Amino acid sequence: MKHFLDIVDFTSEEIQGLLTLASNLKAEQKKGESRPLLKGKVLAMVFQKPSLRTRVSFDMAMRDLSGDALYLSPNEIDLGKRESIADVSRVLSGYVQIVMARVFSHQHILELAKWSSVPVINGLSDYNHPCQAMADALTIYEEFGSLKGLNVSYIGDGNNVAVSLMKVVTKLGANFRIANPEGYDMPEGDIELGKEIARENGGSVTLLHEPQAAADGADVIYTDTWTSMGQEEEARKREQVFPPYQVNQALLGLAKPKAIVMHCLPAHRGQEITDNVADGPQSRLFPQAENRMHAQKAVLVDLLLGGDPDAK
Ligand code: CP
Ligand code: NVA
Repeated sequence: MKHFLDIVDFTSEEIQGLLTLASNLKAEQKKGESRPLLKGKVLAMVFQKPSLRTRVSFDMAMRDLSGDALYLSPNEIDLGKRESIADVSRVLSGYVQIVMARVFSHQHILELAKWSSVPVINGLSDYNHPCQAMADALTIYEEFGSLKGLNVSYIGDGNNVAVSLMKVVTKLGANFRIANPEGYDMPEGDIELGKEIARENGGSVTLLHEPQAAADGADVIYTDTWTSMGQEEEARKREQVFPPYQVNQALLGLAKPKAIVMHCLPAHRGQEITDNVADGPQSRLFPQAENRMHAQKAVLVDLLLGGDPDAK
């Protein structure tokens, strides 16, 4: 059973293929010519945490391809508490054709996938966010035509979004730089993996603590919240540590003149990003959010139809 759990489970060619499919499906939708590729297919969307983009973009992706989606709120399933994950997974497998889940512990998504007889998509865990990474890659690709040799600089917490971004951009040949406060690094194993992927694809991974050093000469400046969902009790401490990592006009001024600014959202304006940058001419925050839907369409079609329906 093929799932979508982690960027590293896909080759560079497969990721490139998904991006091409996403671009084609996006163009069809923009022309009002979406095909009923997922007619008769239903996606169950299991959430342990809140969401705007993931929930709505998956729902609209299914609708636009003539499929359907079911939203299951945190209270409804209470994954692993009301019922074991193994049981939830086997029950859902009997009703729907595909499952997307947003969980606290990454182990929970692995457990869901282990017991599922339908494809499972990771809609964010404490460890990674591969759907976001696909939308991010699509957005960068649309802007620059290729990721090869670009400097993609992430400023902030070495969190789930950073880990998936590093993997996708290095798979596509970019140089990934991260500037994070000491003690807020990406997991050691992922850093090694990122460096290995970069070596194989002609890019690099650079670990920094100085945001200015990461921003210098960047093509893409990316940031995310200082406090991720599930870390709320650390919020006050993080608010003291992270202010030097704010993406503001001064930091953006160090990047290339044509650099773009990205953020997975939700944004905490005045914290990790200022209003003038989030709403400025270099911001791609809202096209990036829209691209969640287009990128996920490609993932859904790939998993449900066994590949690109137009590929020879
Ligand atoms: N970027 C993202 O995953 O947003 P939501 O938490 O609103 O789904
Ligand atoms: N790092 C954030 C991303 C939200 C989409 C979190 O996990 O809360």
